[in-house]
Order: sequence, then C-alpha cells, then structure tokens
Amino acid sequence: MNDRLTVAHFDSIAPDYAGATGALDPLYDAIRGELAAVVAGKDVLDVGSGGVFPFNRRLAASVTSLDVSAEMLARVPADVARVVADARDMSPFSDESFDAVLFSLSFHHVAAGTVAQAEAAQAAALAEAFRVLRPGGRLVLYEPVLSPVFFALERALFKPLMALFALAGVPPLYFRSRASLKRLADFDVILPRVSGWVDPLSGTFPSPLRLPVAIFPTRYELFIAVKPLG
Ligand SMILES: C[S@@+](CC[C@H](N)C(=O)[O-])C[C@H]1O[C@@H](n2cnc3c(N)ncnc32)[C@H](O)[C@@H]1O
Repeated sequence: MNDRLTVAHFDSIAPDYAGATGALDPLYDAIRGELAAVVAGKDVLDVGSGGVFPFNRRLAASVTSLDVSAEMLARVPADVARVVADARDMSPFSDESFDAVLFSLSFHHVAAGTVAQAEAAQAAALAEAFRVLRPGGRLVLYEPVLSPVFFALERALFKPLMALFALAGVPPLYFRSRASLKRLADFDVILPRVSGWVDPLSGTFPSPLRLPVAIFPTRYELFIAVKPLG
C-alpha cells in the first residue's frame, strides 16, 4: 500500500489545488445541474473533496468532507464538517448517516500497487459508501474513464508503472473503464457534455497548461447508484 505517498502528495499540492481548479471549471459546470437534484435538502458526504465542490453547497442540508489529506481538508470552507480518514475505512461514521455520497475526481486515487490490490481498495471504498448511505440514498462517482483498449493497457502495465510511480514519489492511480465500474454497482451512467480547455492532469500537478478536453485519453462520466430500500 502506498497511502503514505497519497497523503504526502496531496498535502504538498493542497496550498495550490483549490486555486488551480479554476482550470477544471468546465468539468464541474458539466455536472452541476445533475448534482443539484441529488444534494438538494440532503446530508451529503463528499469523499476526497479537496475543498472544491461541483455542486451548490447551499442547496444541501449538510455537507461533510472526508479526506486522507489533512492539508486538503484545511482548505474546506467553515460550513463543511471535516474528517481525516481513508475512503476504505469510514468508521468515523455510523451506518446510514448520509443521503448522498460523492467521489468527484477522487475514486481513481483510491488505489494500490497491483491491479488486485487497487480493485480491492476501490471495492472497499464503495462498500463503505453503501454502508454509510441511508436506504434510497445516492452513490455518485464523477470519474475520468478509460476506453476498453486503454483500460486493458493500463492493467497489463499496471505493476511496473506503479513501481515507477512509487520510485518517483507519485501515489498509485487506478482509472476504470465504464464497463468495469458498472460491474461494481447498479450504476446509471450520465455522459455530461464537457467542453473547453482544461488542465490535463486535473489539478494534480497544478500548472498553467490547458488542453481541449476533447483530446484527453479519458472521458468524464457521472455514475449514480441508489441504495436499495430495506
Ligand atoms: C484530485 S483531488 C479531487 C478533489 C475534488 N473532489 C475535485 O473534484 O476537484 C483528489 C482528492 O482525493 C483525496 N484522496 C485521495 N485518496 C484518498 C483516499 N484513499 N481516501 C480519501 N480521500 C482520498 C485527496 O487527498 C484529494 O483531496
């Protein structure tokens, strides 16, 4: 597990992240309308919020941020409750505490050094999300998604790639394809119309570089699943 790297990485970029995410506005704008309906009047848990919210917080009854990085959480506005924890272990929260759990551009950071470990990490995070959701509540993922070909390539090269990343101090990342995410839960998939010039690394290494989102190797997709009643 490379959690230490994840924490160190996000702690170090935290001072610049929220400022740099102006470069991500086209991504957030594309889903603001969809999320308004999900959060209105609801208790919302934002997992890995980084102090940036792709929805209008004032619509929600309450917003709580869970993040592995205390430095990222330090940038969360005062009206948001904060908890330092890993998405794989949401034990600070009781069962059925929230109406909506959101991972915005954070789910692929729940990862580890091998495909099997990364898939176990993401499955654990989703199990925790469903545990803390009330029946009828919404689980929402907003993710950069790989095509089947790029996904197969990522899986084939994953272990050496993550080993190289670790040597360079870069935390593990595991991007999914739409089909592989749909195997994890009964997701409805929404394909937001995203256009404009965006930071290709999604603020990970904040920089002035901007590219048209249409040429990215990933597509941004919104996944929403409902926790069954009873
Ligand atoms: C790229 S930022 C996304 C921030 C924001 N949600 C957005 O849409 O711009 C990823 C966030 O996920 C957090 N994170 C990474 N791994 C995590 C984990 N295992 N558990 C909880 N948070 C995690 C990071 O600290 C960071 O705040």
